Amino acid sequence: MNKITINNNCKRCGRCARVCPAAVYTYEKGEVPKVVKPQHCIQCGHCVDVCEADALQHDSFSPEHIHRVQKELIPSPESLMELMKSRRSNRTITELPIPTEALKDIIEAAYVAPTSENSRKVVVTVLEGAEIQAVEDATMKFFLRLASVLMSKPIRPLTKLFLRDLYNEAAELYRFERRWKAGQRPCTCNAKALLVISTPKKYEFGWQDCNMAYQNASLMAEAHGVSQIYMGLVQIAFKFIGQRKTEELLHLPPGHKPFAIMALGMPAFYYPKYTDKPKKYKK
Ligand SMILES: Cc1cc2nc3c(=O)[nH]c(=O)nc-3n(C[C@H](O)[C@H](O)[C@H](O)COP(=O)(O)O)c2cc1C
Repeated sequence: MNKITINNNCKRCGRCARVCPAAVYTYEKGEVPKVVKPQHCIQCGHCVDVCEADALQHDSFSPEHIHRVQKELIPSPESLMELMKSRRSNRTITELPIPTEALKDIIEAAYVAPTSENSRKVVVTVLEGAEIQAVEDATMKFFLRLASVLMSKPIRPLTKLFLRDLYNEAAELYRFERRWKAGQRPCTCNAKALLVISTPKKYEFGWQDCNMAYQNASLMAEAHGVSQIYMGLVQIAFKFIGQRKTEELLHLPPGHKPFAIMALGMPAFYYPKYTDKPKKYKK
């Protein structure tokens, strides 16, 4: 149970009680808020962050972990919008190393994303070199095995009829196979690092928490000029690869499932323009 105290600096504004999502406090106008249910605390830090008088001590947040917001560093709506609009899945990844500081920021951005009930079960695992090659090979082999069944002579007409999208993508798969055999890593976009974002398999908000973390990390990558690409193909393959092998190949904590995977690397060049994204959904 958390230890929370409120000292004499309290201005009795009641903001800590107002922002607490777990009803840890009660507040009567003009009184110092009372800590009534510390056992309900989810360690979100709202009560600490909102207190102008620094009157609230919470044993999860020692002073070195409390920061004044540097408003001058917050991007303007215009600059944030420009970043989001110009972000691209730039697949021209080169052999250049990802700057260490950039990778550190990208990982930190993933970890500061919100999580359901502040449960913070997300783990970011970084794969490099031979580890990426193993992921590439497992993904490629999975899709080639699938194609060898779905595109075999007796099944092919059924695939064409009932799995039109998969049937149409076979040509792309064989292009990937040729590149893979030539020593490239088409499924993982020749990434220099893979970020595998996972939570325990049975945690019900795994998809949501990991993809919130993904989007934070993706915008940080863009801000650093590092290419990022969402690894949907890899994720599909690993749905069928089995828990033990998935943990082993993706170097996950025991019982974890990868809910988002990001390829990272330095691009050969940047795009000088962006096009508007047309809305495809029609009512
Ligand atoms: C869920 C999801 C899965 C994706 N899977 C892949 C993938 O396996 N390989 C790939 O090269 N790009 C993948 N992408 C990237 C999309 O193709 C890309 O975001 C889309 O074409 C729009 O381009 P942009 O990201 O440059 O705006 C994926 C994107 C999302 C959101």
